[in-house]
Amino acid sequence: MKAEILNLLRERGDYVSGQELCDLFGVSRTAVWKVINQLKEEGYQVDAVRNRGYRIIDSPDVCTKEELDSLMHGQTAWAGQNIQFYKETDSTNLRAKQAGEQGEPHGTLVVAETQTAGRGRRGRGWVSPPGSSIYMSLMLRPSFEPDKAPMLTLIMAYSVARALGACLAEDGGEKIQIKWPNDIVLNGKKLVGILTEMSTQIDYINHVVIGVGINVNREEFPEEIKETATSLRIEAGRCFKRAPLIVETMRQFEGTYEQFERCQDLAFLQEKYNGLLVNCGNDVMIHDARQSYQARALGINEKGELMVRREDGSVEAVYAGEVSVRGIYGYV
Ligand code: BTN
Repeated sequence: MKAEILNLLRERGDYVSGQELCDLFGVSRTAVWKVINQLKEEGYQVDAVRNRGYRIIDSPDVCTKEELDSLMHGQTAWAGQNIQFYKETDSTNLRAKQAGEQGEPHGTLVVAETQTAGRGRRGRGWVSPPGSSIYMSLMLRPSFEPDKAPMLTLIMAYSVARALGACLAEDGGEKIQIKWPNDIVLNGKKLVGILTEMSTQIDYINHVVIGVGINVNREEFPEEIKETATSLRIEAGRCFKRAPLIVETMRQFEGTYEQFERCQDLAFLQEKYNGLLVNCGNDVMIHDARQSYQARALGINEKGELMVRREDGSVEAVYAGEVSVRGIYGYV
């Protein structure tokens, strides 16, 4: 009922009387009053005026299931329409994987306030303190072949970058960029990490989980990553609301994914993606399992591979497997 009351107050944008809420939801005045109090405790500013009722004035950085369901309503058809929310869990990627095994629908989104065993790439961890960041994993049931799955990471990176761009629009000058294939950077530091994991049968995908960690209002990072990690708050000098950012990411993702399903490759995205690519046109260091070499990053091709020109002039495609691309002098 809390979600319904929240929705109604939002949709009206005006006072709704306590009596109307009682009639609509078939509950007592006390029950309505309790829900309003819970909303206030969660951080909503609710104005209560005698003879007029209740009105939502503002919802600061509230990131709860009700808030997400309420904001997601009508924004997407499937991405994030089924939300599993945890105050604390081991890893949203693991929960999303479980959701995939348990038959939850395509587009199920797992969000956690904090993770006790957040997973990063290459077996690393992802430190996930509560209250200041986004930890979410989207579970998909694609009908295409497993070899196309890495493209989903790029689609997610692009979608998060678009959502972040919209969110920073009023800050001016803050440039969101993508560090192919998994990271998003702001002012040269890592703001977002993406971890895509897949469960396959011999030649088809059971489900894919795309995990996204966004440093939103975090004020500090441990010494070891201080030089390369940042948050929206550190860079823009203000706080951001997490729930609308999650919703906008899902909206962007759904649109881009549907286009990808129609085209079956990333030709439609190439130009826009390359426009956001942090190292485009610069020399980078490519580290793969066998070797490390310097090359000039040229942009992605229609398969989402990074095209690079080696020092001998040959052009080759780098596959987004276990390869890492770094700047010549550091992270970007
Ligand atoms: C990286 O190493 O850059 C990828 C980090 C991915 C972190 C996110 S947080 C939400 C989701 N759940 C996890 O356990 N990992 C991903």
